[in-house]
Amino acid sequence: MKLCVALDLPSEQQNLALLESLKEKDYLWVKVGLRSFIRDGVKLLEQIKAINPLFRIFLDLKLYDIPNTMGDSAEEIAKLGVHMITLHASSGREAMNEVVQRLKEIPNPPLVMAVTALTSFDEKGFFEVYHTGLQTQVLEFAKMAKECNVNGVVCSCEESKTIKEQIGENFLTLTPAIRPFGESSGDQKRVATLEEAKEAKSDFIVVGRPIYKAQNPKAMVEQILKEL
Ligand code: C5P
Repeated sequence: MKLCVALDLPSEQQNLALLESLKEKDYLWVKVGLRSFIRDGVKLLEQIKAINPLFRIFLDLKLYDIPNTMGDSAEEIAKLGVHMITLHASSGREAMNEVVQRLKEIPNPPLVMAVTALTSFDEKGFFEVYHTGLQTQVLEFAKMAKECNVNGVVCSCEESKTIKEQIGENFLTLTPAIRPFGESSGDQKRVATLEEAKEAKSDFIVVGRPIYKAQNPKAMVEQILKEL
């Protein structure tokens, strides 16, 4: 199981200061999401690489558009030299196929992960949008993503174990909403501790607020890495 540290801080300086404190951690996964990418753009990716060229960059832009636009965007993102990207499974089979196809042409393409149900959804909120059960639909999304040769899915720990059992151990799961030692959940509904993530056989965990809001973020990262 690998840790992705979410760089969701309110300023570029704060994100970079957090990373500087972790600079000796080769191969640490660093997640750049919408907030930081909209504010700091491609320059931020270069700064991350400058701190440690061995950091793995997860650019979490959650693509959702028509197939041609998704393919074009995925190609552009891949050129940025990142190691993992996300799209929404609900963008559909054609869009996922298009992205996978386009990335085949690119050397060292990033892993592609399909978002199933956002971890901020509970059963009621999910039903309001999709008119179907959350667990069932997450599994359906995962099956469809697998058929499109996407590398894995973003889901909660509640679904990760079933996905591994039904789709296969090699199909990756990435689980956000991790509250390593039971910290406050904030807007996340389907949260899990580190222990639960391990039981759920999650390949990647994403941790944001429990790290950057900790008294000592570096110590928190080290504590998490020790548990993995
Ligand atoms: O602060 P917290 O640990 O809740 O941050 C979780 C991170 O994972 C955020 O950057 C959020 O955008 C991202 N994420 C998520 N749920 C998904 C996909 C990504 O919470 N389904």
